[in-house]
Amino acid sequence: MIIAITGTPGTGKTGVCNASGLACMDLNSVIAEQGFYTGVDAERGSLIADLAKLKEYVRSKEKEQKRLVIEGHLAHFLNPDVAIVLRANPLVLAGRLRQKGFPPQKIQENVEAETLDIILAEAVERCEVVYEVDTSGKSVEEVASLLRAIIDAELEEEKERERRSLRERYKPGSVDWTSFFEMICRTATYH
Ligand SMILES: Nc1ncnc2c1ncn2[C@@H]1O[C@H](COP(=O)(O)OP(=O)(O)O)[C@@H](O)[C@H]1O
Ligand SMILES: [Mg+2]
Repeated sequence: MIIAITGTPGTGKTGVCNASGLACMDLNSVIAEQGFYTGVDAERGSLIADLAKLKEYVRSKEKEQKRLVIEGHLAHFLNPDVAIVLRANPLVLAGRLRQKGFPPQKIQENVEAETLDIILAEAVERCEVVYEVDTSGKSVEEVASLLRAIIDAELEEEKERERRSLRERYKPGSVDWTSFFEMICRTATYH
């Protein structure tokens, strides 16, 4: 069973996974360390992931470990059984990315992607079970403890009541950034 923690960069995947104390595979590190990339995106300063190789690697780890938690903005592409999509209010996200030192164009791209629900839509298209968790206004520890509760309910067969209630509470569609559409249109630059 594979559980994917995904979301736009800056929504808190790595920080929350570290704070949760769960054994979690950081896909960005795997891509860099195992050389699972086909090139470098010079404009974005990031690696272009080799999804086929990453998929194969994750599948082999799942065979060994049976239960695998993976995190990264590509995690929902790796055939997970469950996807947990972290969300952040676009203004909050811009602040977090600024603090992480992202250049303005990368901040804009990610704020647009978050506002338009891109990763959520991709996850819903591919995964049977999807949770949507808004991290804005919460502490990293709060989100980490919610993540533990969700993963626990998904992994423990007998926790059906908790599972049903959490799936209902965090079902896709619970977050709505449409009020930010105007903002991203106003700040958009066309190349
Ligand atoms: N409630 C929250 N959940 C997750 N991250 C938060 C939260 N509040 C503040 N942050 C901060 O946002 C940043 C998210 O960065 P990171 O975890 O690297 O994101 P990602 O791995 O999704 O790109 C961290 O600096 C983290 O401390
Ligand atoms: Mg990360």
